[in-house]
Amino acid sequence: MFLLTLACFLLQVRGLNGQALDANGLDTNDISLDDKVLAIERLLLSPGTIIFPVTPCDFVLNAPLINNPDYTGDQTAAQWVRTVFHDFITANISAGTGGLDASISFEADRPENLGLVFNAATPNTTSFINATIVGFNLFSTVFVSTADFIALGLAASLLTCDPDARMIQLKAGRIDATKAGPIGVPKPQDGLSVAKAAFANAGFSQTDMIQAVACGHSLGGVHKLNFPEIVGNGVTVGGFGADHFDSTPFQFDNQNVKEYLDGSGQGGGPLVTTTNVTMQSDLRIFNNTDGNATIKAMSSATAFENTCFTIFERMLNTVPNGTHLSNVVGPRPWILMESHLDLTSAGVVVHSGNITNYIGSSTSIPATATYNYTLATGGTSATVKSQAGVLKDDHVNGVVSLPFGNITWYPFSDTITTNITAINLPFFSQAINLNLFVVPSQSCMSTSSPPSYTVRAALLTKLVASKTTTLLGTLYYPAVQPLSVAPKYTQVNTTLTSLTTLGAYTIFSGVVAQPNNGGGLSHIDVRLGTSQRSAKILASTFGGSFFKSGC
Ligand code: HEM
Ligand SMILES: *[C@@H]1O[C@H](CO)[C@@H](O)[C@H](O)[C@H]1NC(C)=O
Ligand SMILES: *[C@@H]1O[C@H](CO)[C@@H](O)[C@H](O)[C@H]1NC(C)=O
Ligand SMILES: *[C@@H]1O[C@H](CO)[C@@H](O)[C@H](O)[C@H]1NC(C)=O
Ligand SMILES: *[C@@H]1O[C@H](CO)[C@@H](O)[C@H](O)[C@H]1NC(C)=O
Ligand SMILES: *[C@@H]1O[C@H](CO)[C@@H](O)[C@H](O)[C@H]1NC(C)=O
Ligand SMILES: *[C@@H]1O[C@H](CO)[C@@H](O)[C@H](O)[C@H]1NC(C)=O
Ligand SMILES: *[C@@H]1O[C@H](CO)[C@@H](O)[C@H](O)[C@H]1NC(C)=O
Ligand SMILES: *[C@@H]1O[C@H](CO)[C@@H](O)[C@H](O)[C@H]1NC(C)=O
Ligand SMILES: *[C@@H]1O[C@H](CO)[C@@H](O)[C@H](O)[C@H]1NC(C)=O
Ligand SMILES: *[C@@H]1O[C@H](CO)[C@@H](O)[C@H](O)[C@H]1NC(C)=O
Ligand SMILES: *[C@@H]1O[C@H](CO)[C@@H](O)[C@H](O)[C@H]1NC(C)=O
Ligand SMILES: *[C@@H]1O[C@H](CO)[C@@H](O)[C@H](O)[C@H]1NC(C)=O
Repeated sequence: MFLLTLACFLLQVRGLNGQALDANGLDTNDISLDDKVLAIERLLLSPGTIIFPVTPCDFVLNAPLINNPDYTGDQTAAQWVRTVFHDFITANISAGTGGLDASISFEADRPENLGLVFNAATPNTTSFINATIVGFNLFSTVFVSTADFIALGLAASLLTCDPDARMIQLKAGRIDATKAGPIGVPKPQDGLSVAKAAFANAGFSQTDMIQAVACGHSLGGVHKLNFPEIVGNGVTVGGFGADHFDSTPFQFDNQNVKEYLDGSGQGGGPLVTTTNVTMQSDLRIFNNTDGNATIKAMSSATAFENTCFTIFERMLNTVPNGTHLSNVVGPRPWILMESHLDLTSAGVVVHSGNITNYIGSSTSIPATATYNYTLATGGTSATVKSQAGVLKDDHVNGVVSLPFGNITWYPFSDTITTNITAINLPFFSQAINLNLFVVPSQSCMSTSSPPSYTVRAALLTKLVASKTTTLLGTLYYPAVQPLSVAPKYTQVNTTLTSLTTLGAYTIFSGVVAQPNNGGGLSHIDVRLGTSQRSAKILASTFGGSFFKSGC
């Protein structure tokens, strides 16, 4: 099994490396598709990030947990899956608009987006949309759009809820809408023709619609708070609670289809069995469209899983015209989880960070990672060995979570004495610019809120034209945007002026204040005119930055 997976990676990785950084691949923040793919790989391979709110599958991020007496029937994984549907379904395929574009983040107040998230302060304005987006904000950076997070949320939910921990074919590069899209999420009471028209508008046939609904209605259920006319009092806890779509609401599987067809368990769920005929939308979709033919074809576990992954992938890939999506995210077995250049007080350049590897349990874990550097003069350095690998803690919310097998971190810290231009791991390579870089050990983030950053950068002195040479620093910060809880990554520029020299470098310094904080992490890069540009470095102290806290 593992060998097969690896063979697939090799094919994908070749594609990734061959991908040009073309105009379509760079967004307004000058982020390439390769950068976006790497950011998603890093999240998938950090168990404490995107995997954590949906692990285990019954976990609830923003409301009481299942064994709590105040449990309300919330399930974060189910909300994340449903969010994909509610964002996707208002696509207009012939106009080339909508789809997975995070316009849903502006649409939380619409009756069509009702869904439970317990909120004692506003009991009748419940919406699973804001809770979903706020969950993503915990890990948000300029590299991952909210629309890519919505897609990644489905991938993460399936990794933890599908017993096979199957990774969906996920691409990166979705661009966020800046305002609400059209209304049009079909509600149960809207009837079959409205549902058919909505799916057709989004490019989905009747067969696709049946498959999408059957796949979506495997996790979670219908909530008393939102649909009191469907959900009986018997299933509720203190007036809340959910009537599940099947007997295994915390497992992504074909149980809902089986129970619909043989009448056992939940009998296909409340949208089939409710005595209120108006609300029997799942029954109409499965039965009245093609007399159960499509649903029967997906009744085996294998057919269900394969059909669902294909239909979910089509939902994720429904994006506005002009959006350029990346190749499929592996994740690759070897990546740089974090790396940065720094200068010691003696002016020596140090390149350090962590290499990450994941590997199936049937293969032994290498004691060290091996890599080399591309030399500016051509060719590569001799092989370099990292420090000893450290097995990553695989416990998430009290359970073992290993969707990619054991993950090992290999720290490295190299004194750089020759001119290098890249670091190379197996099927992974990252450019290094020794001419110009942010110096994290001399930079800091203030303790005010929102913070300001003192940025110091090192430019090779031979590239400093005159005493008046300045650098342009850019802060990419998560700005508050009206009517959405999603941040909008926004730039603020600042000028860095020369301060002193250190070794072969001249140190430049500047201060940049973050205007507000819409939830997420900030990055900074520096430029010398149009000839030199540094890597973007994490400036927030949360999440492994090496900026000092407090200036
Ligand atoms: C005409 C089509 C559909 C209708 C009328 C419909 C209707 C509903 C309703 C009424 C609920 C209960 C919400 C609540 O009480 O919190 C629900 C839940 C859900 N729906 Fe759909 N749905 C449709 C299609 C889909 C599709 C295509 C997906 C696939 C992604 C999906 C995924 C979900 C999920 C995962 C839940 C459970 C949410 C939770 O437990 O919090 N639905 N749906
Ligand atoms: C979708 O776009 C087409 C072409 O612009 C338009 O004619 C049609 O009315 C749109 N559909 C909806 C439901 O808005
Ligand atoms: C959007 O793309 C589709 C498919 O490539 C094409 O049929 C349609 O004409 C495009 N619409 C616009 C407005 O560019
Ligand atoms: C919420 O709605 C329920 C019934 O729909 C109503 O009884 C209750 O008074 C409402 N609560 C508030 C705070 O508006
Ligand atoms: C489709 O399945 C449902 C639920 O099992 C059943 O009630 C209905 O009669 C079936 N329809 C056909 C045409 O067999
Ligand atoms: C059935 O549901 C519809 C739509 O929500 C509602 O208007 C109607 O009152 C319900 N009927 C009963 C008997 O609860
Ligand atoms: C299933 O669909 C058929 C054809 O539309 C209809 O005659 C039948 O009553 C439906 N069955 C149920 C249980 O709704
Ligand atoms: C590698 O990661 C570990 C764990 O997060 C961290 O403590 C360590 O400082 C990192 N090492 C380097 C060289 O960045
Ligand atoms: C993977 O990690 C677990 C502990 O979390 C360990 O028992 C197992 O032996 C590891 N597998 C390999 C191949 O080292
Ligand atoms: C390394 O080589 C590159 C390309 O020839 C050059 O731009 C750069 O200034 C050199 N760096 C150093 C530290 O000499
Ligand atoms: C450098 O590392 C890359 C990636 O592991 C490898 O393909 C290449 O063969 C190495 N170069 C040398 C000279 O060993
Ligand atoms: C969701 O958040 C947005 C932005 O703060 C707000 O405008 C909207 O009213 C919220 N909706 C709900 C249901 O919480
Ligand atoms: C920052 O500077 C860059 C490069 O000159 C420019 O493209 C960008 O628009 C500037 N941003 C702001 C917010 O002024």
